[in-house]
Amino acid sequence: MPIPTPASCRVSPEAGTMSNGTGRYEKRLSDLAGLYADSAAFAALLADGDRVVYDVTEFRPSENGGDVIFGVTRMNPGRVGKEFFLTRGHIHAKSDRPEIYYGQKGTGLMQLESPDGETRIVEIGPQTICYVPPYWIHRSVNTGDEDLVMVFCYPADSGQDYGIIERSGGMRHRVVAADAGWALVDNDGYVPRTPEVAAALIGDAV
Ligand code: NI
Repeated sequence: MPIPTPASCRVSPEAGTMSNGTGRYEKRLSDLAGLYADSAAFAALLADGDRVVYDVTEFRPSENGGDVIFGVTRMNPGRVGKEFFLTRGHIHAKSDRPEIYYGQKGTGLMQLESPDGETRIVEIGPQTICYVPPYWIHRSVNTGDEDLVMVFCYPADSGQDYGIIERSGGMRHRVVAADAGWALVDNDGYVPRTPEVAAALIGDAV
């Protein structure tokens, strides 16, 4: 069996990219429809142009268990109403897989939610490592006024379940602009997962 070959990728914090990636994708505002509370502000911003909200350059050697996928994510600064630009968010399809984010430029946060609905926030700036434990739903938010650039790395067989956030009407809290920079407010549309669903996500039977 041929074994994988070594690689080197150079990160540019300024550009929010890295060299030698195996793939790249971007998400535009229209890809984030339905995530924001202020639908009028969303429509107004979208009418002004379907701008790129974030892009990802990744290195994906394989999807084999035991391998890793890594890359750089860059998110523009911006707001929809009071809410900051954010990623769609997900839980890993193999929910026991963790992830690491390493801040390179800008300021933001990782919004994490446990299966039973607890919110945790990890603020991220340059040189900050954020550990996303197994089983936590996670989304990044750019709370600053410049690009938020982070390196990420996760097990190659993790997969992503984006539907988990849709199924509960969003995450439990919204991150909004405030005098202190940001604040959490309740998401009025949030539907808590049942104990059965929460237990199933961590592989427990109720
Ligand atoms: Ni992830």
